[in-house]
Amino acid sequence: MSDKRRIIIDTDPGQDDAVAILLALASEELEVLGITAVAGNVPLTLTERNARIICDVAGRTDVPVFAGCHHPMTRKLVTAEEVHGKTGLDGMEIFEPKTPLQDMHGVDFILQSLAEHEPGSVTLCPLGPLTNLGEAIARDAATMQRAAEIVLMGGAYFEVGNVTPAAEFNIYVDPEAAAHVFSSGIKTTVMPLDVTHKILTTPERIAAFGALGNTCGAAIVGMTSFYERFDRHKYKQDGAPLHDPCVIAYLLEPGIFQGRFINVEIETRSTLTRGMTVADWWGVTNRLPNATFMGDADADRFFALLTRTISRLP
Ligand code: BDR
Ligand code: CA
Repeated sequence: MSDKRRIIIDTDPGQDDAVAILLALASEELEVLGITAVAGNVPLTLTERNARIICDVAGRTDVPVFAGCHHPMTRKLVTAEEVHGKTGLDGMEIFEPKTPLQDMHGVDFILQSLAEHEPGSVTLCPLGPLTNLGEAIARDAATMQRAAEIVLMGGAYFEVGNVTPAAEFNIYVDPEAAAHVFSSGIKTTVMPLDVTHKILTTPERIAAFGALGNTCGAAIVGMTSFYERFDRHKYKQDGAPLHDPCVIAYLLEPGIFQGRFINVEIETRSTLTRGMTVADWWGVTNRLPNATFMGDADADRFFALLTRTISRLP
């Protein structure tokens, strides 16, 4: 048996999702059982293709890629082309990938993988709206309990929101699915905006990917250069947050991040604060802790890990 940590990446690429996928595929410590696409930054037909394009670029046409849910559990899909561009991966070359799309639905793949591996041996890594995981919990909560952990990018406490004043995009798009995840009892670790807004793609850090001289480093330069224009303008900072790779970096070097085991509830009823992650950071309620919510990160250590690991790719 391989002693690598088995993961499933659930994703809506998205340039930052793409960097997270590359980091996972490059690492020696992780075995990517499969990638499940979900509708989010752009519609599902684009996110599943983008996931396959990234596998091609990494030289990993063997990684099984599945299409999951087309739209949130109960709501209309909200997308984010203004951030990610029309294709979702603007900034890099888009082509018809060789990596095939599997016939199985992404939710079936998640449940099947958990059923066939021993309990506690598969970690789920959602990088987009939590629709596929929410559906899987709604369909078969007992099988989902076999997951070792869910490590997700989503939510915010001190940073509050990026898509509305109250909510972060991934949770906002499908708050009902997020509520399923946070009430599931499955061990959950959260990379909110509080952390990802400290992981900024400065010009020096982007240049370091270019200096690697490999195809994947060049792809990251193209994607991050396009994607950062939106947040640079919005936040008036010297770089943009690289959200989703924080999930994979946490699996590889958890010491980069610091947080608290607290109660996190999802707002599903209000229209004003839809998708807010109500995080009891200060312990002012008697609600039981259900998630490790990160609050701080060492950005230099993160970029050292990311750059070093990406250098292993073509
Ligand atoms: C999250 O939303 C998406 O736009 C990014 O890919 C990331 O997963 C950040 O709010
Ligand atoms: Ca994402």
